[in-house]
Amino acid sequence: MKEYLSIDLNSISQRERFSYLLTAIGPRPIAFASTVDKDGQVNLAPYSFFNAFSTNPPILVFSPAVSARDGSQKHTYHNVKEHAEVVINVVNFPMVQQMSLASTAYAKGVNEFIKAGFTEISSDLVSPPRVAESPVAFECKVRQVIELGTEGGAGNMVISEVLKMHIHPDYLTEENRLDTVTLDLVGRLGGNWYCRASGDALFEVEKPLSTLGIGIDNLPDHIKNSDILTGNNLGMLGNMEALPTQDEISKVQSELADLLDQESENTSTSLELLAQAYLLNGDSHTAMCILMGIEKK
Ligand SMILES: Cc1cc2nc3c(=O)[nH]c(=O)nc-3n(C[C@H](O)[C@H](O)[C@H](O)COP(=O)(O)O)c2cc1C
Repeated sequence: MKEYLSIDLNSISQRERFSYLLTAIGPRPIAFASTVDKDGQVNLAPYSFFNAFSTNPPILVFSPAVSARDGSQKHTYHNVKEHAEVVINVVNFPMVQQMSLASTAYAKGVNEFIKAGFTEISSDLVSPPRVAESPVAFECKVRQVIELGTEGGAGNMVISEVLKMHIHPDYLTEENRLDTVTLDLVGRLGGNWYCRASGDALFEVEKPLSTLGIGIDNLPDHIKNSDILTGNNLGMLGNMEALPTQDEISKVQSELADLLDQESENTSTSLELLAQAYLLNGDSHTAMCILMGIEKK
Protein backbone atom coordinates (compact mmCIF):
# COMPACT_ATOMS: atom_id res chain seq x y z
CA MET A 1 0.00 0.00 0.00
CA LYS A 2 1.21 3.50 -0.77
CA GLU A 3 2.12 5.61 2.25
CA TYR A 4 0.52 8.85 3.38
CA LEU A 5 2.56 11.98 2.76
CA SER A 6 2.62 13.60 6.20
CA ILE A 7 3.79 17.19 6.26
CA ASP A 8 4.90 19.55 9.00
CA LEU A 9 3.41 22.73 7.55
CA ASN A 10 5.95 24.87 9.41
CA SER A 11 8.85 23.16 7.62
CA ILE A 12 7.81 23.92 4.03
CA SER A 13 7.87 27.14 2.01
CA GLN A 14 4.96 29.59 2.08
CA ARG A 15 4.30 28.84 -1.60
CA GLU A 16 3.96 25.11 -0.89
CA ARG A 17 1.87 25.70 2.24
CA PHE A 18 -0.45 27.96 0.28
CA SER A 19 -0.83 25.38 -2.47
CA TYR A 20 -1.47 22.38 -0.19
CA LEU A 21 -3.93 24.26 2.03
CA LEU A 22 -5.91 25.87 -0.75
CA THR A 23 -6.19 22.63 -2.71
CA ALA A 24 -7.26 20.61 0.32
CA ILE A 25 -9.73 23.13 1.75
CA GLY A 26 -12.36 23.56 -0.90
CA PRO A 27 -14.65 24.35 -2.51
CA ARG A 28 -14.65 27.68 -0.69
CA PRO A 29 -17.46 30.22 -1.00
CA ILE A 30 -16.40 33.64 -2.24
CA ALA A 31 -17.03 36.92 -0.41
CA PHE A 32 -17.01 39.69 -2.98
CA ALA A 33 -16.23 42.48 -0.54
CA SER A 34 -17.14 46.08 -1.21
CA THR A 35 -15.52 48.59 1.17
CA VAL A 36 -14.71 52.31 1.32
CA ASP A 37 -11.67 54.12 2.72
CA LYS A 38 -11.82 57.10 5.07
CA ASP A 39 -12.34 59.42 2.08
CA GLY A 40 -15.23 57.32 0.74
CA GLN A 41 -13.29 55.80 -2.18
CA VAL A 42 -14.85 52.48 -3.20
CA ASN A 43 -12.93 49.16 -3.41
CA LEU A 44 -14.16 45.73 -4.51
CA ALA A 45 -12.22 42.43 -4.14
CA PRO A 46 -12.96 38.69 -3.82
CA TYR A 47 -12.02 36.66 -0.73
CA SER A 48 -12.46 32.91 -0.53
CA PHE A 49 -11.21 32.55 3.02
CA PHE A 50 -14.84 33.13 3.91
CA ASN A 51 -17.84 31.63 5.60
CA ALA A 52 -20.82 32.22 7.87
CA PHE A 53 -19.95 31.46 11.50
CA SER A 54 -23.10 32.38 13.37
CA THR A 55 -26.75 32.91 12.51
CA ASN A 56 -27.79 34.55 15.77
CA PRO A 57 -26.22 37.07 15.63
CA PRO A 58 -25.61 36.67 11.87
CA ILE A 59 -21.82 36.77 11.52
CA LEU A 60 -19.77 36.43 8.33
CA VAL A 61 -15.97 36.20 8.45
CA PHE A 62 -13.48 36.66 5.62
CA SER A 63 -9.73 37.09 5.63
CA PRO A 64 -7.56 39.39 3.55
CA ALA A 65 -4.00 38.12 4.02
CA VAL A 66 -0.65 39.92 4.15
CA SER A 67 0.80 39.70 0.63
CA ALA A 68 3.43 36.94 0.34
CA ARG A 69 4.94 38.90 -2.55
CA ASP A 70 5.74 42.21 -0.84
CA GLY A 71 4.44 41.97 2.74
CA SER A 72 1.78 44.64 2.14
CA GLN A 73 -1.77 44.55 3.46
CA LYS A 74 -4.72 44.42 1.04
CA HIS A 75 -6.75 47.58 0.38
CA THR A 76 -9.78 45.80 1.82
CA TYR A 77 -7.93 45.35 5.13
CA HIS A 78 -6.97 49.03 5.31
CA ASN A 79 -10.51 50.06 4.38
CA VAL A 80 -12.28 48.04 7.07
CA LYS A 81 -9.82 49.42 9.64
CA GLU A 82 -10.54 52.99 8.47
CA HIS A 83 -14.27 52.55 7.99
CA ALA A 84 -15.77 49.55 9.77
CA GLU A 85 -18.35 48.55 7.17
CA VAL A 86 -18.43 46.03 4.32
CA VAL A 87 -20.94 44.69 1.84
CA ILE A 88 -20.36 41.00 1.17
CA ASN A 89 -21.77 40.01 -2.21
CA VAL A 90 -22.00 36.33 -3.15
CA VAL A 91 -20.60 35.11 -6.46
CA ASN A 92 -22.37 32.92 -8.99
CA PHE A 93 -21.38 31.52 -12.37
CA PRO A 94 -22.60 34.36 -14.63
CA MET A 95 -20.24 36.81 -12.87
CA VAL A 96 -17.18 34.61 -12.25
CA GLN A 97 -14.89 36.04 -14.95
CA GLN A 98 -15.62 39.64 -13.98
CA MET A 99 -15.11 38.74 -10.31
CA SER A 100 -11.70 37.29 -11.18
CA LEU A 101 -10.78 40.47 -13.06
CA ALA A 102 -11.71 42.48 -9.95
CA SER A 103 -9.03 40.55 -8.00
CA THR A 104 -6.30 42.32 -10.00
CA ALA A 105 -3.94 44.29 -7.75
CA TYR A 106 -5.01 47.72 -9.02
CA ALA A 107 -3.52 50.77 -7.31
CA LYS A 108 -5.21 52.21 -4.24
CA GLY A 109 -8.13 54.40 -5.19
CA VAL A 110 -8.98 52.41 -8.32
CA ASN A 111 -12.62 51.34 -8.19
CA GLU A 112 -12.88 47.68 -9.26
CA PHE A 113 -16.63 48.10 -9.91
CA ILE A 114 -15.56 50.19 -12.89
CA LYS A 115 -12.54 48.07 -13.92
CA ALA A 116 -14.53 44.83 -13.86
CA GLY A 117 -17.76 46.29 -15.24
CA PHE A 118 -20.05 45.83 -12.24
CA THR A 119 -22.97 48.09 -11.33
CA GLU A 120 -23.06 49.87 -7.97
CA ILE A 121 -26.32 49.99 -6.01
CA SER A 122 -26.35 52.27 -2.95
CA SER A 123 -26.70 50.34 0.28
CA ASP A 124 -29.46 51.19 2.76
CA LEU A 125 -27.47 51.20 6.01
CA VAL A 126 -23.74 51.31 5.16
CA SER A 127 -21.48 53.39 2.90
CA PRO A 128 -19.99 50.69 0.59
CA PRO A 129 -22.25 50.02 -2.42
CA ARG A 130 -23.47 46.57 -3.30
CA VAL A 131 -22.98 44.67 -6.56
CA ALA A 132 -26.17 44.71 -8.67
CA GLU A 133 -25.07 41.56 -10.54
CA SER A 134 -24.74 39.52 -7.32
CA PRO A 135 -27.66 37.27 -6.46
CA VAL A 136 -27.32 38.08 -2.74
CA ALA A 137 -25.65 40.94 -0.85
CA PHE A 138 -25.15 41.42 2.89
CA GLU A 139 -24.74 44.89 4.35
CA CYS A 140 -22.47 44.45 7.38
CA LYS A 141 -20.82 46.39 10.16
CA VAL A 142 -17.32 45.16 11.02
CA ARG A 143 -17.27 44.08 14.67
CA GLN A 144 -13.61 43.13 14.96
CA VAL A 145 -10.49 42.48 12.92
CA ILE A 146 -8.18 39.80 14.27
CA GLU A 147 -4.64 39.96 12.91
CA LEU A 148 -3.15 36.43 12.86
CA GLY A 149 0.47 37.38 12.10
CA THR A 150 2.73 39.79 10.29
CA GLU A 151 4.54 37.59 7.73
CA GLY A 152 3.41 37.06 4.14
CA GLY A 153 0.33 34.81 4.11
CA ALA A 154 -0.85 35.85 7.58
CA GLY A 155 -4.62 36.25 7.61
CA ASN A 156 -6.68 39.06 9.11
CA MET A 157 -10.08 37.79 10.16
CA VAL A 158 -12.71 40.42 9.44
CA ILE A 159 -15.63 39.55 11.70
CA SER A 160 -18.73 41.19 10.24
CA GLU A 161 -22.30 41.37 11.52
CA VAL A 162 -25.04 41.38 8.89
CA LEU A 163 -27.40 44.34 9.19
CA LYS A 164 -29.44 43.69 6.06
CA MET A 165 -29.62 41.04 3.33
CA HIS A 166 -30.74 41.69 -0.26
CA ILE A 167 -31.85 38.88 -2.58
CA HIS A 168 -32.24 39.40 -6.33
CA PRO A 169 -35.78 38.40 -7.41
CA ASP A 170 -34.44 35.99 -10.07
CA TYR A 171 -33.23 33.67 -7.32
CA LEU A 172 -36.38 33.53 -5.19
CA THR A 173 -38.96 30.76 -5.14
CA GLU A 174 -42.67 31.58 -5.01
CA GLU A 175 -42.45 31.25 -1.23
CA ASN A 176 -39.64 33.86 -1.13
CA ARG A 177 -36.98 31.25 -0.34
CA LEU A 178 -33.57 31.25 -1.97
CA ASP A 179 -33.44 28.69 -4.78
CA THR A 180 -30.25 26.59 -4.69
CA VAL A 181 -30.75 25.36 -8.26
CA THR A 182 -31.04 28.77 -9.91
CA LEU A 183 -28.40 30.37 -7.64
CA ASP A 184 -25.59 28.57 -9.51
CA LEU A 185 -22.97 29.54 -6.92
CA VAL A 186 -19.28 29.03 -7.62
CA GLY A 187 -16.64 27.72 -5.24
CA ARG A 188 -12.90 28.34 -5.24
CA LEU A 189 -10.48 25.39 -5.31
CA GLY A 190 -6.68 25.19 -5.56
CA GLY A 191 -4.66 26.62 -8.46
CA ASN A 192 -6.92 28.08 -11.13
CA TRP A 193 -9.76 25.67 -10.34
CA TYR A 194 -13.32 26.63 -9.49
CA CYS A 195 -16.48 24.57 -9.29
CA ARG A 196 -20.09 25.28 -9.97
CA ALA A 197 -23.00 24.29 -7.72
CA SER A 198 -25.32 23.24 -10.52
CA GLY A 199 -26.48 20.26 -12.57
CA ASP A 200 -24.99 16.91 -11.57
CA ALA A 201 -22.83 18.58 -8.92
CA LEU A 202 -25.96 19.11 -6.78
CA PHE A 203 -27.29 16.28 -4.64
CA GLU A 204 -29.25 15.98 -1.42
CA VAL A 205 -28.34 14.09 1.75
CA GLU A 206 -31.12 13.55 4.30
CA LYS A 207 -30.25 15.08 7.64
CA PRO A 208 -29.61 12.54 10.43
CA LEU A 209 -32.88 11.55 12.11
CA SER A 210 -33.81 13.70 15.10
CA THR A 211 -35.03 10.41 16.60
CA LEU A 212 -31.42 9.05 16.30
CA GLY A 213 -30.37 6.57 13.63
CA ILE A 214 -29.28 3.09 14.74
CA GLY A 215 -25.69 3.76 13.65
CA ILE A 216 -23.43 1.64 11.46
CA ASP A 217 -22.21 -0.20 14.55
CA ASN A 218 -25.69 -1.72 15.01
CA LEU A 219 -25.99 -3.07 11.46
CA PRO A 220 -25.74 -6.88 11.16
CA ASP A 221 -22.14 -8.01 10.54
CA HIS A 222 -22.77 -9.32 7.02
CA ILE A 223 -24.01 -5.82 6.02
CA LYS A 224 -21.33 -3.89 7.92
CA ASN A 225 -18.54 -6.04 6.44
CA SER A 226 -19.91 -6.24 2.88
CA ASP A 227 -17.35 -5.91 0.08
CA ILE A 228 -20.02 -4.37 -2.13
CA LEU A 229 -21.67 -1.72 0.04
CA THR A 230 -19.83 1.60 0.23
CA GLY A 231 -19.39 4.00 3.14
CA ASN A 232 -22.19 6.13 1.69
CA ASN A 233 -24.47 3.07 1.53
CA LEU A 234 -23.72 2.17 5.17
CA GLY A 235 -24.24 5.81 6.20
CA MET A 236 -27.78 5.71 4.78
CA LEU A 237 -28.56 2.39 6.47
CA GLY A 238 -27.17 3.59 9.80
CA ASN A 239 -29.53 6.58 9.60
CA MET A 240 -32.60 4.29 9.83
CA GLU A 241 -34.56 4.50 13.05
CA ALA A 242 -34.75 0.71 13.54
CA LEU A 243 -33.94 -2.54 11.78
CA PRO A 244 -37.00 -3.83 9.85
CA THR A 245 -39.18 -6.42 11.54
CA GLN A 246 -39.48 -9.95 10.15
CA ASP A 247 -42.97 -9.02 8.84
CA GLU A 248 -41.58 -6.02 6.97
CA ILE A 249 -38.77 -8.14 5.49
CA SER A 250 -41.24 -10.81 4.33
CA LYS A 251 -43.54 -8.16 2.83
CA VAL A 252 -40.73 -6.61 0.76
CA GLN A 253 -39.51 -10.06 -0.28
CA SER A 254 -42.94 -11.09 -1.53
CA GLU A 255 -43.43 -7.74 -3.32
CA LEU A 256 -40.08 -8.22 -5.03
CA ALA A 257 -40.47 -11.97 -5.58
CA ASP A 258 -40.31 -11.74 -9.37
CA LEU A 259 -37.31 -9.46 -9.31
CA LEU A 260 -35.52 -11.53 -6.69
CA ASP A 261 -36.09 -14.67 -8.78
CA GLN A 262 -34.33 -13.02 -11.68
CA GLU A 263 -31.26 -12.19 -9.60
CA SER A 264 -28.85 -14.91 -10.64
CA GLU A 265 -29.62 -17.57 -8.04
CA ASN A 266 -29.98 -14.82 -5.45
CA THR A 267 -26.32 -14.87 -4.55
CA SER A 268 -25.50 -12.51 -1.76
CA THR A 269 -23.50 -10.41 -4.23
CA SER A 270 -26.42 -9.95 -6.60
CA LEU A 271 -28.75 -9.12 -3.70
CA GLU A 272 -26.29 -6.60 -2.31
CA LEU A 273 -26.09 -4.96 -5.74
CA LEU A 274 -29.87 -4.86 -5.90
CA ALA A 275 -30.02 -3.28 -2.42
CA GLN A 276 -27.42 -0.77 -3.54
CA ALA A 277 -29.63 0.25 -6.46
CA TYR A 278 -32.49 0.94 -4.03
CA LEU A 279 -30.14 3.02 -1.87
CA LEU A 280 -29.17 5.03 -4.92
CA ASN A 281 -32.87 5.87 -5.27
CA GLY A 282 -33.03 6.88 -1.60
CA ASP A 283 -35.07 3.83 -0.55
CA SER A 284 -33.22 2.64 2.55
CA HIS A 285 -36.12 0.55 3.85
CA THR A 286 -36.37 -1.74 0.81
CA ALA A 287 -32.58 -1.97 0.62
CA MET A 288 -32.34 -3.00 4.26
CA CYS A 289 -35.13 -5.60 3.86
CA ILE A 290 -33.28 -7.15 0.91
CA LEU A 291 -30.02 -7.18 2.88
CA MET A 292 -31.66 -8.66 5.99
CA GLY A 293 -33.08 -11.38 3.74
CA ILE A 294 -29.52 -12.49 2.89
CA GLU A 295 -28.88 -13.22 6.53
CA LYS A 296 -31.87 -15.49 6.63
CA LYS A 297 -30.63 -17.63 3.71
C1 LIG B 1 -11.69 33.83 -6.09
C2 LIG B 1 -10.61 34.58 -5.35
C3 LIG B 1 -10.49 34.44 -3.99
C4 LIG B 1 -9.51 35.13 -3.27
N1 LIG B 1 -9.43 34.96 -1.93
C5 LIG B 1 -8.51 35.65 -1.22
C6 LIG B 1 -8.45 35.50 0.19
O1 LIG B 1 -9.23 34.78 0.82
N2 LIG B 1 -7.51 36.21 0.86
C7 LIG B 1 -6.65 37.05 0.20
O2 LIG B 1 -5.84 37.69 0.86
N3 LIG B 1 -6.70 37.21 -1.12
C8 LIG B 1 -7.62 36.55 -1.86
N4 LIG B 1 -7.70 36.72 -3.21
C9 LIG B 1 -6.82 37.70 -3.85
C10 LIG B 1 -7.37 39.12 -3.69
O3 LIG B 1 -8.67 39.22 -4.27
C11 LIG B 1 -6.42 40.11 -4.38
O4 LIG B 1 -5.21 40.13 -3.67
C12 LIG B 1 -6.99 41.50 -4.52
O5 LIG B 1 -6.14 42.28 -5.35
C13 LIG B 1 -7.14 42.22 -3.21
O6 LIG B 1 -7.73 43.46 -3.47
P1 LIG B 1 -7.65 44.70 -2.52
O7 LIG B 1 -6.18 44.99 -2.25
O8 LIG B 1 -8.32 45.79 -3.32
O9 LIG B 1 -8.39 44.38 -1.26
C14 LIG B 1 -8.64 36.01 -3.96
C15 LIG B 1 -8.74 36.13 -5.35
C16 LIG B 1 -9.72 35.42 -6.04
C17 LIG B 1 -9.82 35.56 -7.53
